[in-house]
Amino acid sequence: MPTTVLIGAQWGDEGKGKVTDHLSESADVVVRYQGGNNAGHTIIVGTERFALTLIPSGVLYPQVTPVIGNGCVIDPSVLVTEMAELADRNIDPTRLKISANAHLIMPYHRKLDAVMERFLGQQQIGTTKRGIGPAYMDKFSRHGIRVQDLFDPKIFRQKLEVALKDKNKILTKVYNSLPMDIEPIADEYLGYADSIGDYVTDTSLLLWEAQQAGKNIIFEGAQGTLLDIDHGTYPFVTSSNPTAGGATTGSGVGPTTIDRIVGVAKAYITRVGTGPFPTELFDDIGAKMVDIGGEFGTVTGRRRRCGWLDLVALRYAVRVNGLTELAMTKLDILSHFENLRVAVGYDSLGDRYTEFPRQQRVLYNCRPVYEELPGWNTDISNVRKFSDLPKEAQHYIEYVEDTIGIPISMIGVGPARDATVMRTT
Ligand code: IMP
Repeated sequence: MPTTVLIGAQWGDEGKGKVTDHLSESADVVVRYQGGNNAGHTIIVGTERFALTLIPSGVLYPQVTPVIGNGCVIDPSVLVTEMAELADRNIDPTRLKISANAHLIMPYHRKLDAVMERFLGQQQIGTTKRGIGPAYMDKFSRHGIRVQDLFDPKIFRQKLEVALKDKNKILTKVYNSLPMDIEPIADEYLGYADSIGDYVTDTSLLLWEAQQAGKNIIFEGAQGTLLDIDHGTYPFVTSSNPTAGGATTGSGVGPTTIDRIVGVAKAYITRVGTGPFPTELFDDIGAKMVDIGGEFGTVTGRRRRCGWLDLVALRYAVRVNGLTELAMTKLDILSHFENLRVAVGYDSLGDRYTEFPRQQRVLYNCRPVYEELPGWNTDISNVRKFSDLPKEAQHYIEYVEDTIGIPISMIGVGPARDATVMRTT
């Protein structure tokens, strides 16, 4: 049975939820390895719409063990709410396994996220304000509080005292904000020990045993390659590693155990938050993509910036993730456009680039070099076989495959669970 990593190949919101959901049909374990409730996975099952932010989307399948790995940051209030919501809709959340080593998002992380963004003014990142960055800052400065600390009230209080002393100085002296009290935080968080205690375990060992038993495991990346703290468009990125390498450090499995790495990309491209975006459209075409594609964030409801598919960025995603295949989502949205464009290079500061530029200044000045491809102007949402797609749509897919050098194995043609064209490659 394979171990598969599934990652976003763009700036997040590629429709990974639907692809994981599809792969989860035959999965035994689905693992989140980075990020927290900044992610939004929307899955449509029949007439029901599930919007998950923290719990792996595999939870919707009864045979799946969903795992939140050590690389994630967990806001326990969101976790218990999401579990309760699933239970209300007759989905059993008690199969969930949570790494004892995952870090907790604390109330001061959320507050700091908000004030730090405000402080940045024009330079702000446009974070989801869920406390993600400050929680990872504490992890790496070794002032973090982990899930396992909830089960030792004495240690928890000690760590909270140290952290809060430091945070209150920063809040009051740097950001001119009010300090926070220790007691309500301690009471709230120590209360979570009871509500989540049964699900906390050594998830690295659990995954090792699942691999030894030949189970089918899927690692579900959140956000996307271009939001990666190391490989993304820094500083306009998230604070974790959504790229495939993050799956190993964020879960405690070794790289040699991974067999397949699937990238997910929309047939066009979107971004929320600020930062460079070479193919961004500011015209009616971009506005039409937002409308027809329903391009509003699952987590924050923000309008997404839209643009033509960027093959320079996609080839970069193939490289830094070692992708073995691509799943392309939302091809049906392009049915509404007469002629299509894909970026095959950039012009910036007098030079032409065919590889994704690493220098921020170059990236900011990029003007895309486009290839025009014919549209198909026909509804494709009921198509289930590649050969039944209009020849222009087949050409679009084959053109992308040729340019990025890996096969496109799945094509999304609508939001429903079954609205997918599977390719035999
Ligand atoms: P943070 O992850 O909340 O710190 O936000 C950092 C950047 O990542 C911002 O530009 C966010 O808009 C973006 N971001 C975070 N999570 C997602 C996601 O799930 N989809 C798309 N963008 C995201």
